[in-house]
Amino acid sequence: MRILVIGGGGREHALVWKLRQSPSVEKIFCAPGNGGISLDGECVQIDVEDTLSVVEFPESNRIDLTIVGPEAPLVEGLVDVLSARGMRVFGPRKEAAMLEGSKSFAKAVMERHGVPTGASRTFDDCDAAAAYLEKAGAPIVIKADGLAAGKGVFVAMSHEEASEALDSCLIAQRFGEAGTKVVVEEYLQGQEVSLLALTDGRIVLPMVPAQDYKRVYDGDQGPNTGGMGCYSPVPIVDEALAASIVHTVHEPTVTGLAEEGIEFIGVLYGGIILTAAGPRVLEFNVRFGDPETQVILPRMKGDLCELMLSVIERNLADYRIEWTDDVCITVVAASGGYPGGYETGKPISGLDAAAEVDGVTVFHAGTVREDDTFYTAGGRVLNVTALAPTFREARERAYEAISRIHFDGMHYRKDIAERVERN
Ligand code: GLY
Repeated sequence: MRILVIGGGGREHALVWKLRQSPSVEKIFCAPGNGGISLDGECVQIDVEDTLSVVEFPESNRIDLTIVGPEAPLVEGLVDVLSARGMRVFGPRKEAAMLEGSKSFAKAVMERHGVPTGASRTFDDCDAAAAYLEKAGAPIVIKADGLAAGKGVFVAMSHEEASEALDSCLIAQRFGEAGTKVVVEEYLQGQEVSLLALTDGRIVLPMVPAQDYKRVYDGDQGPNTGGMGCYSPVPIVDEALAASIVHTVHEPTVTGLAEEGIEFIGVLYGGIILTAAGPRVLEFNVRFGDPETQVILPRMKGDLCELMLSVIERNLADYRIEWTDDVCITVVAASGGYPGGYETGKPISGLDAAAEVDGVTVFHAGTVREDDTFYTAGGRVLNVTALAPTFREARERAYEAISRIHFDGMHYRKDIAERVERN
């Protein structure tokens, strides 16, 4: 099998790393990939936004399977274009990808199919939204309807913050087209968990839960990021709770869409909040999570390529995924200044020494390679990932490994999985 993975972050590095272990995989290309991925596959420069060049590459390079990592090309309809040319591609089509591409679409689907989620209203008119905010009070959550690179969600603790969020979407148009509609949603409290499930449009096959850390500093302080670390399993979500979430969230969503003529094929990622009244969906994503994938795939036994083919061939009925009991944590090494402005091009040292720590794999999220030297090339640079029998050992391994790595300005959270270390 010759595979093309679209994307170039830590998620794609973990996908490439896992796919490389499949006996049937002969060659992996990644577009654009990154420095670390270039050691596991061949990085190719394809303009992912230019659908024609994405089509040309798999056609002329005898690609058997294309896997789309990020949400933007899914929402743009890349899967539809490739499938129409007879190519095998992993990911939902545009219509189904709207579960992530439009928050109001996702809310409406959940409402129609009885999926538990926070109460919400959708507005495109600023005066109507402002009047609603006045009545609803704070805390309250304002979300830009479309894709906003993870920056379109405002948890407003006061009426002033809520009004500012509304203005930045509907008046200042900070998110362009993505913010011309907003979803105003009830504020929910509880721990958050990511539960990803593979689906062939009919059968839903859950993966193991993971929990990520969104704030930049220890103790969940500071601004939100794309994720500063993650761990799996999540002890507060036992098998029974995970099964009940899949039963009340993923299954009715997939079945409900199918009844409406929309086949969801790929990974359905439920961002779930565990409230006192039960689990509620905060958001759906239509792809593998980042950095969730970096802790889920190391725990997965078996062949990812074969599993993905079973999804595409609508053949999940008898599929079982086996998981190791080992726990996995990943700690993100970020550039100085991230999630604000940061410099790139800093040489990275200590990667070989870090990889020598038992159970450790370093996934690259934002690096470039020149000969044998790696340089920073993004806000999130590395995902230092450790597998071990206990959370204590996994933490020790990950933090020993990251202490061996250095680049100018590097920072990371010291408390990843601390809350579960005693397990
Ligand atoms: N971990 C959040 C995301 O993948 O969107």
